[in-house]
Amino acid sequence: MNRREWMQNSARFSIGATLGARLLGRKAEAVLISNPTPVASKPFPSKFLWGAATAAHQVEGNNVNSDNWLLERAPNTMYKEPSGDACDHYHLYEQDINQLADLGFNAYRFSIEWARIEPEKGFFSRAELEHYRRMLEMCHRRGLTPLVTYSHFTLPRWFAFQGAWENPQSGELFARYCEKATAHLGDLIGYAATFNEPDIPYLFHWINLPNVPAGMDLAAVMAAQKAALRKYLNAPDFSSFLIGDAEKSRENMMAAHSKGKAAIKSVKNIPVGLTLAMEDDQPGGADSRYAEKQAHVYGPWLKLAKQDDFIGVQTYTRSRIAGSKALPPPQGAELTQMGYEFYPESLEHTVRFAAKETGVPVIVTENGIASEDDKRRVEYIQRALAGVKRSIDDGITVRGYIHWSLLDNFEWIFGYTPKFGLIAVDRETQKRTVKPSAILLGKIARANSL
Ligand code: BGC
Repeated sequence: MNRREWMQNSARFSIGATLGARLLGRKAEAVLISNPTPVASKPFPSKFLWGAATAAHQVEGNNVNSDNWLLERAPNTMYKEPSGDACDHYHLYEQDINQLADLGFNAYRFSIEWARIEPEKGFFSRAELEHYRRMLEMCHRRGLTPLVTYSHFTLPRWFAFQGAWENPQSGELFARYCEKATAHLGDLIGYAATFNEPDIPYLFHWINLPNVPAGMDLAAVMAAQKAALRKYLNAPDFSSFLIGDAEKSRENMMAAHSKGKAAIKSVKNIPVGLTLAMEDDQPGGADSRYAEKQAHVYGPWLKLAKQDDFIGVQTYTRSRIAGSKALPPPQGAELTQMGYEFYPESLEHTVRFAAKETGVPVIVTENGIASEDDKRRVEYIQRALAGVKRSIDDGITVRGYIHWSLLDNFEWIFGYTPKFGLIAVDRETQKRTVKPSAILLGKIARANSL
């Protein structure tokens, strides 16, 4: 493998690992719960949010004014395939929202697409805002509380050409978008999240990549990707969420969160927070620096979240840290399609951690697995929810469980291969097929009990 091929491969691998956040391993570690408290039969708290999540770019299709549309189509792209029509949720949202409600859910988490709402700097499309208004109205008609993410990774092209989150003006630009969107939609939004997983670029530092040439750092891989794109696009300032300078971007995104939140609240006092990619970090040996990882990756965001109305927890697996590197999953551990260890108990641990660190209510805004075998999803859901219930019974405030994802969708650089959905989508005909896991979770939602 030459250096360029390696860069492509490893970037693909690493981004995927961090996007869901977690890495490779081997077989099935039997039952990983140590002394689980039996699940009490009493129900979940009243008004508990039961939902499923999507993100605009991953399901809507034809997000042509976004930075990702360019990234997916660039030569030597890290992306397996372009998003194209995705699940055509842009047109089929009505049927999807109906399905969610019919299954028994009472919440829907989705993102509004900045690249559609402000396709050119300073031009806010009333027609696109109306589109999202219709989606929100549909949720209310069907008794679903809408949880809206204002920025789920993708950005308007013009914003990317101006340096994305590296641009010192990015916070103001984001806040203006938040203000405009809230003025049009705020009366219908149940919960607002400024950002989805803004901590991901820092997770890059804590990932163990097999076959990485000695001394090569993921930051260097990302920098190389960015340099290549700048050259290809003839755009000296082009940047994007994942390939941006992590430090600069974090500083600007933290400011953007505060400014965005203030802008939203200036229009309507809806509960505002952010969501974090959280691994269940565990010591992988005596010299483990896992606490350092937690402070480095989540610390500043958790501190910020103390001032918020809730914290969104998004967990898929655990990470065992030896020294300052993640170990591969234990020998024989069961792996999901993403290569993550099948470890549903990670959710309970991160819920407890986030609650302790922030002191604000937790909403599980994402949790799930990629699998072709829906039976594995059923087991994952049952075990993950048992852990959420144990936390609640111990007095932790958890407001809801939102499963990732409603539909099999565009899993970023992995394209359409990983199947995270409660509902399958035929990519040719766009026909939806409800999986048993959707029926199970809908039943739990209806009963508000396991
Ligand atoms: C992201 C989703 C992604 C999911 C599964 C999260 O990191 O918010 O967009 O599809 O994980 O990898």
